[in-house]
Amino acid sequence: MSDKFTPTPEDKFSFGIWTVGWAAQDVFGPATRAPMAAERAVRKLAEIGAYGVNFHDNDVFDFDASESERDERISAFRKALDETGLKVTTATTNLFGHPIFKDGGFTHNDREVRRFAIAKVMRNLDLAAELGAEVYVCWGGREGAESGGSKDVQSAMARMKEAFDVLGDYVVSQGYDIRFAIEPKPNEPRGNILLPTLGHALAFINELERPELVGINPEIGHEEMAGLDYAAGIRQALWHDKLYHIDLNGQTGPRYDQDLRFGAGNVGGAFWVVDAVEEGIAQGKYTGPIHFDFKPPRTEDDEGVWVSAAACMRNYLILRDKVKAFRADPAVQDALKAARVDRLAVPTLAEGETAADLKGIEVDVAGLAAKGMAFEHLDQLALEHLYGVR
Ligand code: GCO
Ligand code: MN
Ligand code: MN
Repeated sequence: MSDKFTPTPEDKFSFGIWTVGWAAQDVFGPATRAPMAAERAVRKLAEIGAYGVNFHDNDVFDFDASESERDERISAFRKALDETGLKVTTATTNLFGHPIFKDGGFTHNDREVRRFAIAKVMRNLDLAAELGAEVYVCWGGREGAESGGSKDVQSAMARMKEAFDVLGDYVVSQGYDIRFAIEPKPNEPRGNILLPTLGHALAFINELERPELVGINPEIGHEEMAGLDYAAGIRQALWHDKLYHIDLNGQTGPRYDQDLRFGAGNVGGAFWVVDAVEEGIAQGKYTGPIHFDFKPPRTEDDEGVWVSAAACMRNYLILRDKVKAFRADPAVQDALKAARVDRLAVPTLAEGETAADLKGIEVDVAGLAAKGMAFEHLDQLALEHLYGVR
């Protein structure tokens, strides 16, 4: 059955190979599904209407693959991409799975591990460039600590900067058209992870030698684990021109990383996420794919995996429809006016004015204080669009 919520490649939906490919092993038990080769994920994603994929090096070949095994795995992956027309929009490095990375990659206390980690990224950058990726995600899941004394955080930040500076030099020297996107997360698998939120990452980027090469890849679940509003966060990232990629999924409040399918969990939040993403696209400030980083729950079999993946795209399209109807609704436009939302775009000082012009100004303190903001009416209209009664 196809309807207006059926995805097509023009919608630019992409998925991590590791999302649908997750065999569902967790800390309490082994896998409930069979391992999935990257080429199968590519073919099935193309079948359900996706546009592209993101991959870790070790989603395609094993950490300890021989050169010939590596070549064989890459050519099977490439063949599936060629045959389906699916794009590699993004790539990334697994710097968290192998025990050598137990204390991280770029900020491991052992210098040899740090050197090995940067080399691993460079090798996969070569493959990413060959496959046409434009964004390279860096998720430092093991960069962090469980205890205060075990990590010298100031040195860790210096080493993190060093890694990004070296990698920036590398892509420039190779002539690659690739930008990096840092993915923040507050915790899990480490007790505390460095660069825990998108705000920490944005501040860090300013310290780099080539800040123009580095932006962020915020994930809904990760910001919500920290109790933050993802839509407001990505709107700030758009303002900084730093939203290079997005990881969409679902989360229900601050708890473990649920990686639910997009649209599940915080449904109201998802409505505003789509509103924010579409705003970024319309402004030309977000040019990346609509990317999903979710995990089909451990309860699902292979069929359930594809139901869950298809639902991510379907939910985005349903919410996009609702967001457009909300923005086009004359009652909403009136409510926005009544809430004076448009007035925030007017500079606080008039042209030519300085701070001195504000000294001793008189305003109608009692009148302004008494005036309601009319936000409840506006938000109720949003909810009624979301609930499907408008
Ligand atoms: C997580 C992360 C990862 C990263 C991915 C990219 O599991 O918490 O979201 O899925 O996005 O590993 O490196
Ligand atoms: Mn996650
Ligand atoms: Mn992610």
